Amino acid sequence: MAFTIAIDGPAAAGKGTISKAIARELGFAHLDTGLIYRAVGAKVLAGSDPLKAANSLSAEDLEADNLRTPEVAQAASKAAVIAEVRAALVQFQRSFARRAGGAVLDGRDIGTVICPEAEVKLFVTASAEVRAQRRHAELTEKGHALSFDEVLADVKARDDRDMSRAEAPLKPAEDAVLIDTSDLAIDEAITAALQVIHAAR
Ligand code: DC
Repeated sequence: MAFTIAIDGPAAAGKGTISKAIARELGFAHLDTGLIYRAVGAKVLAGSDPLKAANSLSAEDLEADNLRTPEVAQAASKAAVIAEVRAALVQFQRSFARRAGGAVLDGRDIGTVICPEAEVKLFVTASAEVRAQRRHAELTEKGHALSFDEVLADVKARDDRDMSRAEAPLKPAEDAVLIDTSDLAIDEAITAALQVIHAAR
């Protein structure tokens, strides 16, 4: 049976960690849709046209090892503004969402555009400062030498672009349940998400 859980929110709010944990808990498949846009962004940085990149994505492109860098994140956010790029990626995401056995998709427009019919919609957010702190710690651990202020500027630039674009801007669906993770430990955020899901099943 199909059951879709749509999880949207800004960069570094905890969507990825929450999505993976609930997919594991429920035995659902998980798609990090940001990774698809990052794969397009990485191809653009390597010289490709954004639409050609979106139309020719392969499974290996999603496994490239540079997808988690700040440069690729910005390139992804820029490519994600282009309506034709978004359109090229819709069908894959929709089929994934309705696969048998249940699916969790996290991104920016899952509850609003990709799966407005999702059985559960969550909007996971946190203050820009908390999100920048988390991303900064993550990047430092991976050996990136970026200051907190640089990471904060990066997070804010991406928020602005993702929220103000004409096509599928980042915003909560009207019927999304909001989870603010600013003051929550990760297990508390996962528990809050699971409570909403169990109430809907
Ligand atoms: O979730 P992320 O940080 O990996 O996403 C990278 C960028 O991709 C994000 O800044 C905007 C874009 N994106 C999008 O426009 N729509 C999605 N569903 C997911 C990501």
